[in-house]
Amino acid sequence: MNEWLKSLITKKSFFFLSKCRTIPVTKILRQADLCGSFLIINSYFRLMLTGRKISKHYGSLHVLKSVDIEINKAEVVSIVGSSGAGKSTLLHILGTLDKPDGGEISLNGQRVDKLSGKALSRFRNKNMGFIFQFHHLLPEFTALENVCIPGWIAGNKKKETEDRAAELLTMLGLKDRFGNKPSQLSGGEQQRVAVARALVNKPAIIMADEPTGNLDSANAKDLHQLFIDLRNKYQQTFLIVTHNEQLAAMSDRVLHMKDGKIVENG
Ligand SMILES: Nc1ncnc2c1ncn2[C@@H]1O[C@H](COP(=O)(O)OP(=O)(O)OP(=O)(O)O)[C@@H](O)[C@H]1O
Ligand SMILES: [Mg+2]
Repeated sequence: MNEWLKSLITKKSFFFLSKCRTIPVTKILRQADLCGSFLIINSYFRLMLTGRKISKHYGSLHVLKSVDIEINKAEVVSIVGSSGAGKSTLLHILGTLDKPDGGEISLNGQRVDKLSGKALSRFRNKNMGFIFQFHHLLPEFTALENVCIPGWIAGNKKKETEDRAAELLTMLGLKDRFGNKPSQLSGGEQQRVAVARALVNKPAIIMADEPTGNLDSANAKDLHQLFIDLRNKYQQTFLIVTHNEQLAAMSDRVLHMKDGKIVENG
């Protein structure tokens, strides 16, 4: 289980989840279409995430060398670069899953590198969604329950969380899969459940580390297209680490990392 999941799941939340195992899904809410042109223009130029002079060492290895990065609201930004360039380290630090040695990180004007403990966990769960190469769905829980988990942990109302999870799974083409466990889903379906889980708390930004690394090329392209669609429809912001230059080219901006630095903006 990865650090992000560990940070979400405490003894208390497991106890709560165990009480929420059978969920009647009664209603699917309709999401208002937020694609008004004013909103798009207004949101396209709003700075959401900034990292300034981020540095990170592992022992004597200087992994991030004073990295500056800015992501605007409703932008889809990809980070590419060779293995070991520091992409995952940067993503994890921006996502508050790891601490930098130096530098500042702000999300919507709030200094997140100053947060710690429960306040940090709460902030992360509310404002950031994560998608990983290996989806990290909980095998004992259904697709719907997996999507609900961050909402339940955030303390959102059970019924509202379930309705939103159902709405998201329906939107992602999984209407008939609510009750299936991860092992009963294809790789592409599992990854779409992970996308729904990342979206359930309406996060400011979704960070994805090699989200298509485990998918065939058709499913990989579909997933990137889905990110673009979610941006177009809901102004969702994405920061995606990928090795796939073709998929990265579907993004609004491509950042290239080399030896712990961003070397050029695509
Ligand atoms: N926890 C750690 N302890 C020590 N070294 C680490 C740790 N995590 C990463 N590294 C090292 O930091 C460097 C950057 O790693 P990182 O995972 O960020 O690379 P990456 O660009 O994501 O590579 P890949 O494309 O292979 O996933 C690598 O040399 C790696 O071995
Ligand atoms: Mg990596």
